[in-house]
Amino acid sequence: RPIVLSGIQPSGQLLISHYVGAMRNWVAMQETHDSLFMLVDLHAITVRQDPAVFRARCYDFVALYLACGLDPEKNTIFVQSHVPAHAELGWILNCYAHMGELERMTQFKDKSTRPDASINVGLFDYPVLMAADILLYQATHVPVGADQKQHLELTRDLAIRFNHIYGDVFTVPEPFIPETGARIMSLQDPTKKMSKSDPSEASYIGLLDDPKAILKKFKRAVTDSDTAIRFDPTEKPGVSNLLTLLSIFSGESIPALEARLDGQGYGTLKVQTGEAVIAFLAPIQERFQALRADEATLDRILADGAEKARARAEPTLQRVFDAHGFLPRR
Ligand code: TYM
Repeated sequence: RPIVLSGIQPSGQLLISHYVGAMRNWVAMQETHDSLFMLVDLHAITVRQDPAVFRARCYDFVALYLACGLDPEKNTIFVQSHVPAHAELGWILNCYAHMGELERMTQFKDKSTRPDASINVGLFDYPVLMAADILLYQATHVPVGADQKQHLELTRDLAIRFNHIYGDVFTVPEPFIPETGARIMSLQDPTKKMSKSDPSEASYIGLLDDPKAILKKFKRAVTDSDTAIRFDPTEKPGVSNLLTLLSIFSGESIPALEARLDGQGYGTLKVQTGEAVIAFLAPIQERFQALRADEATLDRILADGAEKARARAEPTLQRVFDAHGFLPRR
């Protein structure tokens, strides 16, 4: 059975872009694949976090994973820091990654050139830990949005490099990127991706945003000075982004939407997109409230997940240790 692994950083709110780019596929793939889904807390501390806010947000994330349909009976849901093998393999892979290839990572270049950037070594090294996350479990498929493609390529390069020296230790994973919605754009600047680290809350929709706020953000979404409702991401990135979201959340195809909304104006497109998102999120938010109220149950799910994940990571880590000639741990 193919093995799926993916994760999200709890470094800000969980957004519709994460759902569309990644979690939507997680929910589908858990039915057919042996799946592991993480909350990547170690990655999130490359940026300073307030401990109390961070802990509450991690619970929010787990409750939202479940509310969106991830089922701990069908997969393994766990927290990265609960499985020490991630940090251990991360260190070892550091000794195989080249400075130059990490310097070429576009996400690092973006983050490290922001005016307020604090460039810690973790930010630079981040893709290597991500490679460890994936390779530990011999994952075959990694469902992510388009922005993670370059990190997946690095993961593949590291696996191939390592296997070339030591034999077939790692499975070389494939990215699994959706055809539509792999890159949802900011509502305030449709040339930038929607991002939880965007300083403007109007630029993104959180899975926990209330209906009034959602409608308001969509009504304010930046489009263009034309009036035609046409899917054309280069010429009309704002309108195309709304059409993508409306299509995904309503189930209507983009050509059908173009035909139906022809001549109706951007106001209609914005309101219908907002309403489709609100309708989709309503049952998720309701389930979230119940799940989030019971931290003891969430802790238990995470404890089970961590136990399963640790058992699965261990053989790979042992092979890696053996490959280097480390003395056996007795
Ligand atoms: P993160 O937390 O930035 O994003 C989580 C997932 O959401 C996708 N995504 C998007 N998809 C469409 N449109 C967008 N605007 C958008 N923004 C984000 C991301 O592609 C991702 O799939 N490095 C990863 C976390 C990670 C990971 C892993 C993923 C750590 N270890 C191992 C897979 C496997 C990250 O920062 O994702």
